[in-house]
Amino acid sequence: MKFDLEKMRRDTPSCTSILHFNNAGASLMPKPVYTVMCDYLALEQSMGGYEAATKSAQAIDSFYTAFANLLNADLDEIAYCENATRAWDIAVNAIPFEVGDRVLVHETEYSSNYLGLLRLSQIKGIKIDIMPTDAKGAINFKALTDIVDAKTKAIFLTHIPSQSGAINPVNEVGEFARQHGLIYVLDACQSVGQMPVDVKAIGCDILCGTGRKFLRGPRGTGFLYVKKSRLTNMHPPFVDLQAAEWTSTHSYTLRDDAKRFEGWERFMAGQIALAEAARYAMDIGLNVIQERIALVSESLRTQLQNIDGVTLRERGEGKQSGIVTFELKGRDASDIVLLLRAKNINVSAARVEHARLDLEGRGIVALVRASVHYYNTQDEIERFCTAIRNLRECSSRM
Ligand SMILES: Cc1ncc(COP(=O)(O)O)c(C=O)c1O
Repeated sequence: MKFDLEKMRRDTPSCTSILHFNNAGASLMPKPVYTVMCDYLALEQSMGGYEAATKSAQAIDSFYTAFANLLNADLDEIAYCENATRAWDIAVNAIPFEVGDRVLVHETEYSSNYLGLLRLSQIKGIKIDIMPTDAKGAINFKALTDIVDAKTKAIFLTHIPSQSGAINPVNEVGEFARQHGLIYVLDACQSVGQMPVDVKAIGCDILCGTGRKFLRGPRGTGFLYVKKSRLTNMHPPFVDLQAAEWTSTHSYTLRDDAKRFEGWERFMAGQIALAEAARYAMDIGLNVIQERIALVSESLRTQLQNIDGVTLRERGEGKQSGIVTFELKGRDASDIVLLLRAKNINVSAARVEHARLDLEGRGIVALVRASVHYYNTQDEIERFCTAIRNLRECSSRM
């Protein structure tokens, strides 16, 4: 499909009043996504929540088809969750770990996931090994092979970290996991919606993601993929009427698809809107989106590099994503976020407490994170760089 920038911007009405470079935080919902969500809430208001769900059963169900298509998964491998962290939590806590089991984690792992593993080390006695990497954060697979032993059970990776433009080598890690018989858990929170993500090509067993970022869905929505062959051995830590059927006073039967990880009560309007967001992205084409984001983010990187006092802090090798992180001499990242917001420019800050394994070792306290999407323009990049240049000039006068 040919990329129609004008249409994308018409579908994103607030582009005219704000400069939104915070798509890795939460993107702007396109009109069709917003409309289906509001229409569904109106239906709930007009006829009752349960009645609206019955009437909209098909639309709710279309979520599973949309995500199966988006991720190249099967229908029974998809679950709707309230966010990526809860999706990750419920699936990872269903892995049958035993005391002394070891897991491998990359230094760019998302903070809440790492906290979740720390908790698992307390309650289940697992041990966490950080993957050996080179100075750029690239995994040293040879050294990694040397630390895998019979107790190593799982490998965790974040596809695109929150705090840098790096795109981690998900397929190579999938191959490594396959060779060593490891359960592969992939956090695809920042990648789904900005590039094609194919669970079969990657070879992951569990994948979690969120609605509000590059997919442009509503906040408070997320999704989970669990490979069918792993499901039988994964009992969710909690069960309710969605996960299981209550069969007698002392028994229940767990459902055999990924919906065993869902809750019965959930934000139906969000589920419908997230399905619409997935279809919206697929209609544009994930390859088209990825190319457009590469164009916009490369231009942003080049222009930022030319500003006195700006240091790009990107990691990894090869292609970079739509996330661009940098420091501006003499200014704290969180102050920059506030100063820009006063000018209707949205970015966010990535702080060391959110990415300790990655940023602490590099001596970074905080970075400005500008994250662009396909609907952003050259003109916005120029306005953004002018704003950064002005901040720099003010700070060097101080
Ligand atoms: C890489 C990554 N993983 C997971 C999350 C958590 O997503 P959620 O807030 O939907 O739980 C984020 C959010 O910023 C993220 O950037």
